[in-house]
Amino acid sequence: MAKGRKNRLYPGISEELSALMRTGWADTERHGLAPAEQAPYAARRRAALSARFPGERLVIPSGNLKVRSNDDPYPFRAYSGYVHMTGDQARDGALVLEPRPDGGHDAYCYQLPRDSRDDDEFWTGPTAELWMGRRRSLAEAELVLGLPCRDVRTAADDLAAGFQGPSRVVRGVDPVLEAAVTSDEERDEELEEALSDLRLVKDEWEIGELRKAVDSTVRGFTDVVGDLSGAVATSERWIEGTFFRRARLEGNAVGYGSICAAGEHATIMHWTENDGPVRPGELLLLDAGVETHSLYTADVTRTLPISGTFTPVQRKVYEAVYEAQEAGMAAVKPGAAYRDFHEASQRYLAARLVEWGFIEGPADRAYGLGLQRRFTMAGTGHMLGLDVHDCAQARNEEYVDAVLEPGMVLTVEPGLYFQPDDLTVPEEWRGIGVRIEDDLLVTADGHENLSAGLPRAADDVEAWMSRMAG
Ligand code: GLY
Ligand code: MN
Ligand code: MN
Repeated sequence: MAKGRKNRLYPGISEELSALMRTGWADTERHGLAPAEQAPYAARRRAALSARFPGERLVIPSGNLKVRSNDDPYPFRAYSGYVHMTGDQARDGALVLEPRPDGGHDAYCYQLPRDSRDDDEFWTGPTAELWMGRRRSLAEAELVLGLPCRDVRTAADDLAAGFQGPSRVVRGVDPVLEAAVTSDEERDEELEEALSDLRLVKDEWEIGELRKAVDSTVRGFTDVVGDLSGAVATSERWIEGTFFRRARLEGNAVGYGSICAAGEHATIMHWTENDGPVRPGELLLLDAGVETHSLYTADVTRTLPISGTFTPVQRKVYEAVYEAQEAGMAAVKPGAAYRDFHEASQRYLAARLVEWGFIEGPADRAYGLGLQRRFTMAGTGHMLGLDVHDCAQARNEEYVDAVLEPGMVLTVEPGLYFQPDDLTVPEEWRGIGVRIEDDLLVTADGHENLSAGLPRAADDVEAWMSRMAG
C-alpha cells in the first residue's frame, strides 16, 4: 500500500487502484499557443531591471499558496513584482535574471510543471492537478510568456549550485527559494525598491488595464446606487455583495477589501466589517475597486446621502472635501512635485477647519503644525496599479520627493472625518465622514480623470441618485 493524500477514511492505496489511476488519460498538451499580449511589455520591463544590476543574479519569486485551514488554501495572489516582470500569475514560480559577461542578463522562469500520470503524485501529492486543476506545461508556459521555463522542483538545488557571484532575491515571498540564494538583506531590499520604482510610470498596456478596472468599478458603483433600497432593508453587506458581483462578473476580484461604511462607520478609515445598518438620513461612504484578470486595480470612493439628499451639515462637509479635491486635482500635471496635490488639498481643508473654529488659526500656522490631521487623517493619495497602494517600496527620491511624469496613475482622495465621540465639534457634525476619491492618469499636458464617469459635485450626486431611484 502506498501512502495517499491524507484521508482518514481510507487506510491507503491498493496496487490495483494505483495502476487503474495511471491509465486511460488523453494527451491534453496545447500546441500553437500565442504569446500573451503583455509579453513584449514584460520583456521591456525586464530590460530596465537588468540595466540596474549588471553582473548580478536576480531572483524574483511568485509565491506559494497559503493555508487557511486543513486542505483549504486562501485564493492565490502572485507577488506584484513578479507579475510586472513576467505577465504571469502562476504560483510556485520565479523569474531569474542570470548575468551575462556583457553586463546584460538572460531571463528564464521557474514554473511548477504538469504532473506526470506515471506515478501517484497527480492525484495524491500536495499540489495534485487532479485536485487543484490543470496547470500549464513548461512548453505551454514558454509559448505564452515568451521565456525559457524550467522545473521549479529543481530550482533550489540549481540556484545553490549555479552562479556564485553577487545575487539578490526578493525576501518574504518564497522561503525555499530565498534560502537557496546567498545574499544580504540590504541588497535584497534594493531589488525590491527597484521593482517598485520601475512600476511608477505605467506603459500603455498597463494604462489600458487600469482603464478597464476603473470602468468596471464605475459600473459597480452604479449597481450599488441602483440597488440602495436593498441595503436599507438589510445592511452594508448588501452593498459589499452588489459591488463584488460586478467585480466577479467583469473582472477577477476586488483589489482590496471594499469599504462599505454607512453612518458613523464612514469615520473609520479601514472599515471592512461591512455589517452595519444603512439608514436614510445618514451618509454612505463606499470605497471600492475592481481588480482585472491581469491584477490591475481601481480605487474609487463616493460618499452618498442614503436618502438621496444631503442635510445642510453633510453638504457643508461634502462641499469642503469636493473643493479640496478640486484643488488637489489641479496640481496633478507633469513636472509638478508629487507632494503638490497632497499639500493643496490639505491646505484647503486646514483653512476650512480654522474657519469653522475646529482648529486654531491662522490657517498657515495650523497647516504648518499639521493640526488638520485630526480630521483629515490620511495623506491625500498614492500611486495605483498592480497594488492598490502601488510602488510602496519605491525610494522617496523616486516617489514622494519626485515630480509627476506622464504615465503615472495616482489617486486624489481628500476626506474629513468627525469621530462620533469628538467633543471638539458640535454634536450634529459627529459621526460624519466624507471622502471623494478619483483615479488620475498624468498626461503630457495635465491629467485625465479615469473615474470621471461617476458624479462628484454634490448637486450631481443628488441628481444621479434621484435618476437611479426613479
Ligand atoms: N481604499 C484604500 C485607499 O483609498 O487608499
Ligand atoms: Mn486610495
Ligand atoms: Mn480607496
